[in-house]
Amino acid sequence: MKKFAAPFQKSIFVCTQKRPDGHPKPCCADRGGMALRQELRDMAQEKGKEMEIRVFTSGCIGACDHGPVAIEYPNGEYVLGITKEDLPEILDGLME
Ligand code: FES
Repeated sequence: MKKFAAPFQKSIFVCTQKRPDGHPKPCCADRGGMALRQELRDMAQEKGKEMEIRVFTSGCIGACDHGPVAIEYPNGEYVLGITKEDLPEILDGLME
């Protein structure tokens, strides 16, 4: 095993989990998780922050009923019920 410091300080994992149609649990993919992840990534790049703030795709992070959701690090906070309109505030928060 080998460890080394990641080249970014903050990260956000946006759930894009897809479940089969008819599955009893909701999934973030059906609530726009993929598009939100891509838009947040694009916004970080437009601000030249892509090396400081990494936007990752994630599988289920356990808050399915509140999707689309993400989890931010290093603070470890869930962000629930994300809308497109929330993305600037999320990015600003990560840049603080
Ligand atoms: S499917 Fe997104 S948190 Fe579970």
